[in-house]
Amino acid sequence: MLQRLLLSVLLLSVTASEDFDWTKNEKTSFYYGTFPTGFSWGVGSSAYQTEGAWNVDGKGKSIWDTFVHKKGKIFLNDTGDSSCEGYYKFKDDINLMKDMKLNHYRFSISWPRILPTGLKSEQINEKGLKYYDDLINMLLENKITPVVTLYHWDLPQVLQEKYGGWQNVSMVNYFNDFANLCFERFGNRVKYWITFNNPWSIAVEGYETGEHAPGLKLRGTGAYKAAHHIIKAHAKVWHTYDTQWRSKQKGLVGISLTADWGEPVDVTNQRDIEAAERYIQFYMGWFATPIFSGDYPQVMKDYIGRKSGQQGLGASRLPVFSPQEKSYIKGTCDFLGIGHFTTRYVTLKNYPSGVGDSYFTDRDLAELVDPQWPDPGSEWLYSVPWGFRRLLNFVKTQYGNPMIYVTENGVSEKVLCTDLCDDWRIKYYREYINEMLKAVKDGVNVKGYTAWSLLDNFEWDEGYSERFGLYYVDFRNKNKPRYPKASVQFYKRIISSNGFPNQREVESWKRKSVETCTSSNQLLAAARRQSQGDQEHAGMQKSWPVHDEV
Ligand code: NOJ
Repeated sequence: MLQRLLLSVLLLSVTASEDFDWTKNEKTSFYYGTFPTGFSWGVGSSAYQTEGAWNVDGKGKSIWDTFVHKKGKIFLNDTGDSSCEGYYKFKDDINLMKDMKLNHYRFSISWPRILPTGLKSEQINEKGLKYYDDLINMLLENKITPVVTLYHWDLPQVLQEKYGGWQNVSMVNYFNDFANLCFERFGNRVKYWITFNNPWSIAVEGYETGEHAPGLKLRGTGAYKAAHHIIKAHAKVWHTYDTQWRSKQKGLVGISLTADWGEPVDVTNQRDIEAAERYIQFYMGWFATPIFSGDYPQVMKDYIGRKSGQQGLGASRLPVFSPQEKSYIKGTCDFLGIGHFTTRYVTLKNYPSGVGDSYFTDRDLAELVDPQWPDPGSEWLYSVPWGFRRLLNFVKTQYGNPMIYVTENGVSEKVLCTDLCDDWRIKYYREYINEMLKAVKDGVNVKGYTAWSLLDNFEWDEGYSERFGLYYVDFRNKNKPRYPKASVQFYKRIISSNGFPNQREVESWKRKSVETCTSSNQLLAAARRQSQGDQEHAGMQKSWPVHDEV
């Protein structure tokens, strides 16, 4: 009897993370209803994408400052040198947030703005600390909760040059020192900390494909090594908070993982299901499984191990955690941040080992899209709202229903577009937020939602060509004025109703939202004519980016 009980407990724990039902993809109609009381609504941004002021007030260089100044790395060789001038305009931006009645604002701290050489022991830049102090204070004065990301990709350049950045395990301690300083200086007021934003991208695009800073192409190894050190750094920072600050400051420390959803091409085909699961495990599970369960997903260990063997390597290209490290890493997450934008169909595709092994070929799968899916903006971003509900339910079943904050979700528009009547964005938000509501009804523990992003900003290697903002920024004007898109009005109504109360009301929102954008369009057009006139009058050549119309 006891044996049978033990066996069923064992079976239960083995299958606990496997009860996601791949075959059940309910695509239900729009759901009218509201979110639980206290649900938090916010918008997001990041330091390098919005602050500008790249070399003022004692700020050190980050890997992005270096990367963007190399020719050929960024669309039209644009840079984030001045971007939205958020460093100078944060008060205006907080007023925009106040007007939207946001509950939280997610932003990131630039490590080299505070520690110009990356090292706390070398130099602390008080002016940098003051900037974030002022920002945090003003948010709190306006009853907006700061949600702070410690690493949104801007590693101090010195650390890249001296140590190879995230290829080097020494980053773990340096990052911990930086985080500890942030806890010390801001932790009396900041209660939500995100260690890393989208570590997948840091690892894969920074060290495998080289599309992002630092631009390294260490195929098949670079991403795994970077991720290994990032996971360790995350865990260390969580422990630092837990042992040194939690009892005084009573905050939470999480991580923000970005993942697309992967849907099997054919849900009746086991090989497609397995391929889709691999897609998710290599994306989100790569980081989430160590943090929730102590080690990499078994499927990653199996695939990368086998392929490394076939290459004739003595050890797997996927690094190994020691037993001590596993228990140190396991459970280091007070909440899980989720960034989500799009979905892919996935099917099995075998890549023979030996030729060009990489993170991508290790997964043995192919990604497909449905040509019917709307693709309003960025080339990779198809609007597939039901994928969001699937991803959230997957997280619930895989990681024991953790507390979730959606840390990023949103859509860009095409380069040519200067229309503030962004009905496609309204549609995207309406449907994605509705799928999140359905997930909450499914029992997923989502506590808050962050629209990406407040402003159009520097979209990494795509420069200014992909605009994700609720507010349009006129980058051609050196004052970088902000103009509300229609989606601001729409999001405001979702916030004030805490969801979608009833059909009649929700339908009227769209109408009302687009009423104001026509006049905003006229204002913008007039301002542009004016600034063009001024420029011609002064015989000036373009002195700020004119790229949004190429
Ligand atoms: C995720 C990144 O964290 C963010 O910086 C970026 O702007 C959005 N994706 C959109 O691509």
